[in-house]
Amino acid sequence: MQQVNLGMLGGGTVGSGVFHAWQKNGALLAARLGVQINFRKVAVKAFDEPRPYPIARELMTTDWQEVVNDPQIHVVIELVGGTGIAKTMVLTALTQGKTVVTANKALLSAHGPELFAAAAKAGVNLYYEASVCGGIPIIKSLREGFVANQFPAIYGIVNGTCNYILSRMKAEGADFGAVLAEAQKLGYAETPPDLDIDGIDAQHKIGILASLAHGFWVDHHQVHTEGIRTVSKIDMEFAAKLGYTIKLLGIAKQSKAQSPKSKAAGVQVSVYPTLIPNAHVLASVNGVFNACFVRGDIVGDTLFYGRGAGKDATASAVLSDVADAALDLKNGAQVRLAPFVAHAKKGRVMPMDEVTSQYYVRFSVVDKPGVLAKIAAIFAAAKIGISSVIQPEGHEGESVPLIFMIHDAPNAAMRKALAKIAKLPVIKAKPVMFRVESFD
Ligand code: HSE
Repeated sequence: MQQVNLGMLGGGTVGSGVFHAWQKNGALLAARLGVQINFRKVAVKAFDEPRPYPIARELMTTDWQEVVNDPQIHVVIELVGGTGIAKTMVLTALTQGKTVVTANKALLSAHGPELFAAAAKAGVNLYYEASVCGGIPIIKSLREGFVANQFPAIYGIVNGTCNYILSRMKAEGADFGAVLAEAQKLGYAETPPDLDIDGIDAQHKIGILASLAHGFWVDHHQVHTEGIRTVSKIDMEFAAKLGYTIKLLGIAKQSKAQSPKSKAAGVQVSVYPTLIPNAHVLASVNGVFNACFVRGDIVGDTLFYGRGAGKDATASAVLSDVADAALDLKNGAQVRLAPFVAHAKKGRVMPMDEVTSQYYVRFSVVDKPGVLAKIAAIFAAAKIGISSVIQPEGHEGESVPLIFMIHDAPNAAMRKALAKIAKLPVIKAKPVMFRVESFD
């Protein structure tokens, strides 16, 4: 049987998960692939660093160069993370003619085009299934299973930490701060939790999915990103009364030009807390789970659900890439579909101002005659249509919440109207705005 040798960079939690999964199911992989996969070297930070599963001592080295320069190693798995030394490691491995498997979304987001160019130049592949949604085979599905489709829309719950926090806020009527503190105690959210909570992790993931789906590399700086710090208990409650659940969604949606004269069509690529109808399947994805709702123009609507992180789910994705790499070697890489193909002639990320959305807006207003009319007049002047209004009964002269649900309107028009409304003397706090997704 053909032999394929692995070298792994990183032997901590995820690395030990990959090694353990290979020990458990390596024989099954060999039977399925017709290729014997062997671990040859693992570069670790320290021999005795804490790891949930043991790694064979004789495979370990603290010198990563020993892995990428070993002529017997065919495939290098990069699990170091970050955009510093990991970039050097990946580029070195690629230029040494080794296929690379990475779980590193930050690295791909920052340097995707350079890394894929280096892989193409070296005539090898760079695989990245574990970089998005952990164990869910979303990359392979978009790349291979849906190869005959265009993708009008992809909606993803791609950050488990945010989904855990929002799920608990909804279920328990809890405040954001309290749930975040507990998520950190349980080890779900990092300390500091900014990458998750501020939507950056989700930005990297939806950027990668959008790039793959639309065939041009989406620079993550172009991904409009809002995190979940602005989601409060009161908005969860109003959303629930209106029949919605608030989720942090990564969205990659083909959008038409606003008007034939002025703006070009493009792809909306964004991350923001979104009101989604309770009846939609994504509303019931709770806890640390991830899900991707993918709409293909041929296949229709599909749903992927599973664990987005953790040593075992990530190991499943890494070994799936290893299997592809092994088959490349068995069959000749040129016969297979490359992990990323820049096939779009002109790809355009649509600036958020040009995107059209529906909205939920909560104002804190003084309860007195004429307030509603003043706000409505500003919306009307901006050609923004109101679909419903709620004001809980209050006491005249006191501060009350006033909720507007708004029909489709361009984000620029909404932004400007809210800025005007915020300046009215009857407005007592910064207006809170979330977009609403109807999945039409
Ligand atoms: N921190 C991520 C999450 C997992 O909470 O989903 C790694 O991508």
